[in-house]
Parts: sequence; C-alpha cells; structure tokens
Amino acid sequence: MKKTDILVTGGAGYIGSHTLVELHNSGYRPIIVDNLSNTSLENIKGAENIIKNKITFYEFDCTDEDQMNELFELENNIEAVIHFAAFKAVEESVREPKKYYDNNIGSLEVLLKIMKKYDVNNIIFSSSCTVYGSPDILPVSESAPFKKAESPYGETKQLCEKLIDEVDLNSISLRYFNPVGSHDTCLIGDCSADKPNNLVPIICEVAGGKRNTMQIFGNDYKTIDGTCVRDYIHVVDLAKAHLAALNHILDSKKIKTAYNIGVGKGVSVQEVIDFFEKINDLKISYKIGPRRAGDVEEIYSDNTKINNELNWFPVMSFESALKTAWIWEKNK
Ligand code: UFG
Repeated sequence: MKKTDILVTGGAGYIGSHTLVELHNSGYRPIIVDNLSNTSLENIKGAENIIKNKITFYEFDCTDEDQMNELFELENNIEAVIHFAAFKAVEESVREPKKYYDNNIGSLEVLLKIMKKYDVNNIIFSSSCTVYGSPDILPVSESAPFKKAESPYGETKQLCEKLIDEVDLNSISLRYFNPVGSHDTCLIGDCSADKPNNLVPIICEVAGGKRNTMQIFGNDYKTIDGTCVRDYIHVVDLAKAHLAALNHILDSKKIKTAYNIGVGKGVSVQEVIDFFEKINDLKISYKIGPRRAGDVEEIYSDNTKINNELNWFPVMSFESALKTAWIWEKNK
C-alpha cells in the first residue's frame, strides 16, 4: 500500500527527529526539509539507523519561497505538514528579536502560502506553553488566555498560532511544556549549536565536566521548595503526540484546535537535580543564584483535552528521560 507523505519542517532537530521515527513506525513516509542552521545531519543518520530506512531530505530553507516551491513540485503527494522549523533560544530572542520574527513568522508565512497553492490542507504546528505567559490558573488548560509573552520567542509562537487560526486550513497547534530526554537508542537528540540554557542539558554538562558548576535560578518562589516548577515531558511521548494529532487531522473534515502536551504534573528545579543525582548516581555541583529574568514561577499542564479527544497519554518515565539525557550527553 502506498504510504502517506508527511512533510516535516525542522525534521533534523530535536523533536523533529524523534517524530520521524514515530511517523515511519506507524506507516507514514516522512519527508524532511531542514536548512541545518542549528542542528546536524547526525540526527537524520540516527533516525535512519533506528528505522533501518533512508529518509528523503531537502536541505532547503523554509523562508525561501523558491526552494519551497521546488520541494512541493517534486513531492506532489504531501497530505500534511508538521512544522517544527524555528529558532528556540529564549535568551537570544531577547537580544535579537528581529531574527526570531523574520525566521519563525517568515517561514510559517511562506509555508501557508505554498500549502494553499498546492492544495495541502493539514498543518500541525509546534507551539509552546509559553503562549500562556504567566497563567492565573494551574494546571493551565487550552482555554486560558494568551497573556503577555515573556520573550520575543514567546511572541512568535502566539503570532504563529493566530496566523494559522486565520487561514482556511485544518490545523492543530501542540503546546509543548518542557521536553526532556532522548529515544532509548540515544541515537537522536538535541544537536543545536546554541549553548544550552535549558535545565536538563545544563545538568548534563555539569555531570560530564563541560561546566564546573551551575546555578539554581532563585529559591524564593512561592513553590514547594522555593524553586520554579515545570512540567517535564519525555520527547518520545511528545513525538507520539504528533502522531496522534496527525491521525486525527487526517480523519477530520474540518478542524482547528490546540492541545497541551505535558505530563500534567509540576516538578521543581531542586527536585530535577536531586532526581538526576539519584538515578544516575552522580553528584551535581550547584549553587543558588538570583532569579532569571522572564521566568514564570510555576507552570504545568492540564492535559485532559488531548487525553479525551485523541486518547494520548504520557507513558514514558521521568527516570528514563533523565537517564537518556545523560547518555546522549556522554555520547555527543
Ligand atoms: N534553570 C535553573 N538553572 C539553569 C537553567 C534553568 O535554575 O541553569 C531553571 C529555570 O530558571 C526554570 C527551569 O529551570 O525555572 C526550567 O528552565 P528551562 O530553561 O529548562 O525551561 P523554561 O521553562 O524556561 O523554558 C521552556 C522552553 C521554552 C518555552 C518555555 C515556556 O525551553 O522554549 O519553557 O515556559 F518557551
């Protein structure tokens, strides 16, 4: 039987590469478009290794309309697009907002135009819980309003969701909480050139000796132990949420919706470090530092909408996320 073609923008990235594996394993044919600006071919090779198959790859830039036209001319059976390609470093977005507006919004605009031209009617968009800003009610559900974004990166996610809402396409925005871990083969992961500023990659760098120490950004928040609380979602569960969304969008006549992708449980920074030490049998050197500008005190998801509508539930353990994150770091 002929496989359904799915275009995966940013397919060589951290979440994209994990999604390629799930798509293939469920009988889809993923096609990658990625300009490799902030990842590496290693992730494509890793995904190919896992699935024991080649994956079609276009080293094109999603903001380049001519290149995207060429791709859609060559691949004329695309049924849906999963759009990951974007810059994602929150701190950098504060320093260089234009880079974020141009790339993250520019690539979506090109994509929506080309999809219309080639009559491709389904898009799954890689969004973030950052769209909620600092939510008033926890756990936060999809009906919460978009509050002021904490960064230009956050603004681009809000704007992209709004842009998608305005076009006549089937769409699902997936609002990720904090993705962690790697595939259990540890052959794919985060290859971005950015100096990591996310918690778990930083803990891994301290564990591996790339950094001598790290800071906990503030321990005077009104949380269980004073440190910030987040909802850490295993990247394999997250990849499977894309599959659930894809199956649903292809089955739907008309759909425009958004889902939270989180575990539904808050974990503090201190708890993450303690648990990492325990399960990897390591000591992490850290000290308490000042609060980091723009940090939300506490955020975790209400994931009942996707549980009920798509029958998606997180099943991977936090333990496996922290173990595979550490193995990925050691293998890098
Ligand atoms: N943290 C530390 N020390 C560090 C790094 C992080 O204490 O060295 C803390 C942060 O202050 C925060 C928590 O660990 O309280 C998690 O921080 P991350 O940077 O890992 O993740 P964020 O929650 O800040 O950001 C994530 C995604 C963004 C997204 C945002 C929305 O990385 O893409 O959630 O809230 F926009």
